[in-house]
Order: sequence, then structure tokens, then C-alpha cells
Amino acid sequence: MKKFLLLLAISILTTSGHFAFAGEGMWIPSLLKQLNEKEMKAMGMKISADDIYSLNHSSMKDAIMLFGRGCTSELISGEGLLLTNHHCGFSSIQKHSSVEHDYLKDGFWAMNRGEELPNPGLTATLMIRMDKVTDQVLQGVNDQMSEKERKSAIEKNTEQLIKNFEKDSPYQATIKSFFKGNEYYMIVTETFKDVRLVGAPPSAIGKFGGDTDNWMWPRHTGDFSLFRIYVSPDGKPAAYSKDNVPYQPNYFFPISLKGVNEGDFTFVFGYPARTNEYLPSYAIEEITKLENPAKIKLRTQRLDIFKKYAETSPKIRIMYASKQAGVANGWKKMIGQDWGIKRTHAIEKKQQFEQDFQQWATANPHRTQQYGDLLNQFKQVYQQIRPYQQAADYVYEGALGVEAQRFALSFLRLAEISKEHPGDTAQLYQMVKSLQAREKTFYKDYYKPLDMEVMAQLLNTYDKNVPDAYKPAWFAVIHKKFNGDYKKFTEYTFKKSFLDDPEALNTFLKNYRANDYKKLEKDQFFQMAMEINRFAKQNIWPKLDQLSARTDSLMRIYMRAQMEMQSDKRFYPDANFTLRVTYGKAGGFSPADAVEYKTFTTMKGILEKENPDIYDYAVPEKLKTLYKDQDFGPYADKDGSMHVCFVAKNHTSGGNSGSPVLNAEGQLIGVNFDRDWEGTMSDLNYDPSVCRNISLDIRYFLFVVDKLSGAGYLLDEMKIVK
Ligand code: ARG
Ligand code: GLU
Repeated sequence: MKKFLLLLAISILTTSGHFAFAGEGMWIPSLLKQLNEKEMKAMGMKISADDIYSLNHSSMKDAIMLFGRGCTSELISGEGLLLTNHHCGFSSIQKHSSVEHDYLKDGFWAMNRGEELPNPGLTATLMIRMDKVTDQVLQGVNDQMSEKERKSAIEKNTEQLIKNFEKDSPYQATIKSFFKGNEYYMIVTETFKDVRLVGAPPSAIGKFGGDTDNWMWPRHTGDFSLFRIYVSPDGKPAAYSKDNVPYQPNYFFPISLKGVNEGDFTFVFGYPARTNEYLPSYAIEEITKLENPAKIKLRTQRLDIFKKYAETSPKIRIMYASKQAGVANGWKKMIGQDWGIKRTHAIEKKQQFEQDFQQWATANPHRTQQYGDLLNQFKQVYQQIRPYQQAADYVYEGALGVEAQRFALSFLRLAEISKEHPGDTAQLYQMVKSLQAREKTFYKDYYKPLDMEVMAQLLNTYDKNVPDAYKPAWFAVIHKKFNGDYKKFTEYTFKKSFLDDPEALNTFLKNYRANDYKKLEKDQFFQMAMEINRFAKQNIWPKLDQLSARTDSLMRIYMRAQMEMQSDKRFYPDANFTLRVTYGKAGGFSPADAVEYKTFTTMKGILEKENPDIYDYAVPEKLKTLYKDQDFGPYADKDGSMHVCFVAKNHTSGGNSGSPVLNAEGQLIGVNFDRDWEGTMSDLNYDPSVCRNISLDIRYFLFVVDKLSGAGYLLDEMKIVK
């Protein structure tokens, strides 16, 4: 009976799933008019799809920039002012920070243009246009080709198309696959190379709540930083020069002071990186029942050790802060994902869909021939993948979870060049130089006793969970020579290596000659690195490559079949780091039985969370004073309080960090920076009941710039709408 009820509940959910849920979907901007405008207007939007994306006149897309290589940002002034998240600007802010000028801790504000700080290597990329090029890319491709032949034909066409385009254009082009290789678009971009830091709040605001609050609602983080794009005096992208001038964009976002309330229409415009909504149930099981749990286990061990050492010394805490944040971010997301998949019965829903699919796929001989065996083949391939995927996961999260081991791996190329091209001094010199740079950053934040403890622990877990055939040969040594004592083996490895000794390594690199690779080859960590490399190249990568070519091919067909079967459903392509629009209403959710979450947070919550003894929950004095005096200026809500963050039903993913959140009029009301923990499975299976994006309220941004930081002069160049 129970089972029957569950299935019934699931089937109700799946049937409604055939209609588009408001909230689900990350849509291609050039297709909004055709696919979404009507619905967006019905939900409350007052502007047109043409205001969002147009090739004929300036539109919102002209104000969106890919920030660096992993975030989104938006222009908010006619003079190139660029808004993104604090965590997106984090490494730039860090690079300008020192003990004397700790901009991470204290924040940074340029009080005039001359004080804005250049960031070599940081770029902002504008999309000029996107055009469907499926026919050109698939020219000469047919179903009789092997996957390899297909790939090479596509590569050839792609290269040619890009070459033809770029030869007459000042812009760059890339071609990206959509719908798992069923469609292709050419994306034309312009990349700006002089992006300067204008301001950032102190971490106690920009990272308030730290990793404890990360991926969580309710949230109180002022996660923003400000940059400015500069161009050459004739208006072209150019590397940093003091003669460069602020960029004058075709469009920038007006900022609304009206705020956001439950039920309001919102949309997000940005660069989600990777989602997988159309996988078969086997893949979801593989990911959430096998891959994630193994990675979570290994990361938990590392994080526990980080924590133990951080508690003994503030110096180590700072050293490992950024590494800890990186490891914890993915770790926490995976935990949320597994839990969300389970709680929303995503696997059962997929299985239910697959039953319908199988019926449809075998309803006539033609379909049976095309699609009848598809699911069965998926099942087999995923079974075959399992041991190799596990082996690969343990290489990345196990072996390379040891910092010294990862470091040793970066010397492989040096030895290779030394052996193969000993006379190529230019290349050797380049390699040594880059290793010297790497060495510096490596030791700056490295604590050997911590890494040794990590190594002994991870080796143990690695050994116990992976069959011998799927792991490097040194485990045999551990058993034979060290009696299975991982700690002894770890001590031995560190003793027989000079890579963990800055002085020895320094001298080694300074005097490096091609013949010195022999010294490397005697080094224990280097030997282990060679073994990982050999083993993975022989036993893992070729097999994984072959099997993932297989799943790619099956997935292309399965995607096409799903679209054919549900021919009246509106499909959106999985995220692929191209510009997308998602829309949904603001509103809270119920993450668990008897729990209700509201739409927005206020400054009151910052004071409730305050704890001067916990680093993540320290509150700057000035912020407290402003709160005590209720001195919010024009940035308070009409309810009198100062709003900080809000949630809405937008379908976002990693890469959407820093994306503008807009209201029905297309005015800026927030900056996207996270999702709720209960909803991180939206990358695999969006569920409108719990999936929300978390945004900073734009009025809190203005409040921090103006009231807290005294950089109100920046507001003069913004367009603020009451
Ligand atoms: N979870 C967000 C993202 O995936 C924010 C990460 C940065 N914040 C942090 N506390 N580590 O990028
Ligand atoms: N924080 C994420 C990012 O850096 C966005 C959150 C998400 O994955 O939705 O892109």
C-alpha cells in the first residue's frame, strides 16, 4: 500500500512535470521571444524579449559580462562600472592584499579613478551575438559514422567555420554544442583585458557566514565586489595601460530601490556552467549513490584534519582558508545534492519516465530499431564505467588530495622535456620559471604536518575502497615493505623527498640542467607521481575515454528521442557556459516537515548571528552602529527594515554567481550568488518545491557602498530609480 501511494504521488508529480514549471529552465536568449515571452509576460514581466536580447539595437545582453573564467558580472554605469560577487573577485582582492593592506579583512575602496587597481590576467567577456550553425557543423556527418569519425568531421567543420568568421571580424568565435550534440551555435565574443578593482567590502560582510552558511538559506552575506573595465582611447579592448579610458557600454542596468517581495516576477541573466537534466536514472544513481559518497568521504577526512589544525593556530587557519573554502564548497554541494535527489524521489521519477519511454520507443518497428535498446545499453555502459570512474575519483580526491603529491605531479613535464629535448634550453627555462612561481605559492600556504596526516588517512581509505587492479602499484609496496602501515609509509615518503624542502628545491631549480631529471627520478614523491601517471594512462583514461564516447553517443540519441516523444514540451538545453535567461517568482519554501522559509532576510538577522568568537560571524563595529541607529538612508524597505538577501525560483547553477537579478521592468534588484542546500540537486533534477536561487538585495549593496564605506561618490554614475 505504502509503495502504491508513493508511486501514485510520483506519477502525479511526473505528469505535471511534462508542463513547464515556472522556475525550471535556463533559456537561450535569442529564442526568448519565440519560446518564453508570453509566459514571462503572464507572470508579470512588463518589458519585451527584444529588450533583453536584440541584434538590431542595444539590449540587456550588452550589459552582461563573463567575469574571468567562471563567474558572471553586469555593467551598472555608462563608465564601465562592473558588479560581481565578492567570492568572484576574491582572488583579485587577495592578490592586492598584504599584512599592511589587508583588503580581504578590511575591504578596499578606490576614492578616485587613479586608485583603482589593475589585475593582470583578469578579463571580462561580452557576447556580441549567437547564431545557430547546426547544419554547417554537421555537414558530411551521418549515422553510419563511428563516434571517432563523427568527432573529427565536426572538429574540422568547426575549425573552418571559426577561421572563416574570424578572418573578417575583430571578434572571437567559438562553437558550442547544445542538446547533447543535436544543435550547434556560434558564439561571438569580445574580451576586455583591463579590468580594475574599484571596491570590496570587508570579508565580515562579503563572506559573512563563511562556509558555515554557504549553500544555505536564510543568508546574510553581502557577497559583492566592484570593478571597472578600461579600453584604449579609441574604445577597443586593450591590455592595461595608464592611457586607457573607462569603457562606455551600449547598455547598463538601472538600479531599482523598490525592492522585492513574495510573488514578484524576477529573472536572471548569466552564465551557468554545467547541468545534466536529461540523464537516465542509471547515471543519477551512479553519481549520487557511488561517486558523490566516495568523494564526500575523502573530503570529510581532509576537512576534519584542516579543522583540527586551524583550531590550534590562527596562522594555519589563514594559510588553509582558501583551500578549505574550495574543498568545502564542493563537498557541501554534493551532500545537498544526494539528499535532494533522495528527498524528491528523483531516481524513481526518472524510472517512471523510462517506463513510459520504453513503451513509446517500442510502439512501432521503426522506433524500436532506433530507440528500443537505448535504455538497456545505458544500463550496461554505466555498469562498465563504474570501476574506472571510481579509480579516477580516487586518483583526484585521494592521491591528489595530498598537496605534496599534487605538487610533485607538476614536475613530470620538466623531467619529460629534459629527457626528450635536453638541448631545448628555451623550453627548459620556461618550465623552470613556471615551477619556481608555483613553488612560491605552494610553500606560502603549506603546512607539512597537516599534509602528512592527510596522506596517511587518504591512503588508508583509498586502499580499503578500491580493488588492487584499479590503483597505483605503491599500495603493494605499502603492504610488502611497511606492513600496511600508512603512517610509516608517509614518513618514509617525506624523508625520501626534497620537494617538501623549500631550500633544497630552490637550489635545485636555480641550478637546473637537463641532466638533473635523474635527481627527480630518485625522489619518492616524484616516483609516486610517475606511477600515478603511468597507471592512469594505461589503466584508466583510455577505458574512460572510450566509455564516455559511448555515453555521449547514447545521450545524443536519447536527447533527440526525448524531444521527439514529448513533441509539445518546451525543452531547454543543459547549461554549457553560454548566456542564459531564467525566470521565476520570488518566494520562500519548505525545506522539511514543519519548516517554512521566508522570501527575504534583514539586518536584524546579522546581529542575531553575530558571534565575535567565531570568525565567520564577526560583525564590523560600524555596521552595528548603523543598525542601532536604524540609519539606512534611502535604502530601507518600505517596511522600515534593511533587507539583505532574498530567494526566488530561478533555475541557476555554478557560473551564475554575480548574475544580475532583474524585476518586471528589467531594473536591477539583486545579484545572484548561491542556491539553497536543499535544492543543489537542481543541476540533475530541478524541483520547484525546493530549488531557489539566493541573491543579494541591491539596496544592501548601495547601503554598504554609501553608508558603510563612504564611497557614495560611485553612486553618482549609476542610474538609481526610486
Ligand atoms: N556556494 C557558492 C558557489 O558555489 C559560494 C561559494 C563561495 N563562498 C564560500 N563561503 N565558500 O560558488
Ligand atoms: N556560487 C555559485 C557560483 O560561484 C553559484 C551558486 C550555484 O551553484 O548556484 O557560480
